[in-house]
Amino acid sequence: MRRLLFAANWKMHLGPDEARVYLKTFRARYNRRDDREVWFFPPGVSVEAAAQAARDRNDLVVGVQDVYWEPKGAFTGVISAPLAAQAGARAALVGHSERRHIFGETDDDTRRKVSAALHATLVPVLCVGETLAERDAGHTLAVVMRQLSAALGSLDGPAMSRVVVAYEPVWAIGTGRNATPQDASAVHREIRAWLTGRGADAPRVLYGGSVNVKNAAALLAERELDGVLVGGASLDPEGWAQLVQTGAA
Ligand code: PGA
Repeated sequence: MRRLLFAANWKMHLGPDEARVYLKTFRARYNRRDDREVWFFPPGVSVEAAAQAARDRNDLVVGVQDVYWEPKGAFTGVISAPLAAQAGARAALVGHSERRHIFGETDDDTRRKVSAALHATLVPVLCVGETLAERDAGHTLAVVMRQLSAALGSLDGPAMSRVVVAYEPVWAIGTGRNATPQDASAVHREIRAWLTGRGADAPRVLYGGSVNVKNAAALLAERELDGVLVGGASLDPEGWAQLVQTGAA
């Protein structure tokens, strides 16, 4: 059975109290369905509150938006994968375009972060995607493949099978523009082929970038999409509960 994954990236929104209220409202509006799971990526300070609020629902997973690759030590201001796991995280975003473009994260950083997440038994959700200039120059696939091989190229099959990839064209994030379902699907097919060619068993590839309750169904009608990673449209628990019930599995 196709099992859709709906991932909410709250970015720098929703503190611990707000996260608790959010999860309460969300849970009242969304009952577990076997054909989908819902993941939440709150800011680091809210991971524990969100994980507590979701703890008796194993279809709801809480993750962290970023990890540093060292497990512990004198690294002021960052969170390691084992510390995030202690707070209740089960997944970690890696290489989100805001990390790459605002904070200067490199392909090599993403490799170390994927590896750190896997060591701490967090599911890495590796974000890849091209800028508008790269797309206009016809470099979409070259960029995506470079990001995949830099971050994941050294993993063996079992490790590769644990990774989720989110294709998020940078020009579609927070802009209200998104790729057509067919364009997204074509990139997803290449990503899946790359992953399965390196031993991944049934890899999951999400789409992200201005996904909302209006366009989600058309995107998810593409069988290449295993789910969506959503920023802005995930911040309201009622709207998000509606969005996660779109799309046929
Ligand atoms: P958006 O963000 O849905 O607000 O475009 C998606 C993301 O950055 O993961």
